[in-house]
Amino acid sequence: MNINSIPVIAIDGPSASGKGTVAQLVSENLGFQYLDSGSLYRLVALKAIRIGIDLNDEKALENIAQNLDVTFTGRKIQLGIEEVTDLIRQEIYGNGASKIAAHSRLREALLDRQRAFRKGPGLVADGRDMCSVVFPDAALKVFLTATAEVRAKRRYKQLMEKGEGVNINTILRDIEERDRRDSIRVFAPLKQSKDSSFIDTTLLGITEVVNKILEQYSEISIKSI
Ligand code: DC
Repeated sequence: MNINSIPVIAIDGPSASGKGTVAQLVSENLGFQYLDSGSLYRLVALKAIRIGIDLNDEKALENIAQNLDVTFTGRKIQLGIEEVTDLIRQEIYGNGASKIAAHSRLREALLDRQRAFRKGPGLVADGRDMCSVVFPDAALKVFLTATAEVRAKRRYKQLMEKGEGVNINTILRDIEERDRRDSIRVFAPLKQSKDSSFIDTTLLGITEVVNKILEQYSEISIKSI
């Protein structure tokens, strides 16, 4: 099978827009592979912070990315023999990921790894540059967003449920800072690509968003038969 004929649903959006949950549910529904591209940036950040590498040292970050010993098994993420699925979700690694993501050499070092997820019968990939850089030929492109206030509330609820004491104003400030950093960088900034479908999830529940994407994908699939 020609790899380019394997369908991709690319979903981009800002942090806490719900794209991870939505992308996962869409992939399960279709029986597709799933790529959480942000986890790769988080893994590089985790390793860099642990070794004590300066997050501006592009060469060292590229080196970490090239040698990242990561295994994805379903939802489980392993770095070497250590399971880091929950650890990399911490804000310190999200913010670190956002900082290192500005380096073009690091982004390039992660490209093949991301594209290797494109396997039959199809792939759902979420991130910031899935539509523009990693899978520009995706069958369906979606830009998912919500107001920063609603995203902060969602993240606050998630963290409270995990028993983490947090302040909603700090979360809102972090989200706005991350949006700003992810959007102004020169290489592969977060922005809606012209050919993607825009979904504002501010007033929508997860199931509604998932169904919307599945409908859009089935319309495309019918047209292409
Ligand atoms: O989606 P996330 O919150 O796990 O991503 C963490 C950071 O990684 C995000 O703030 C920017 C970076 N990232 C990126 O630059 N490109 C991607 N495709 C995915 C994530």
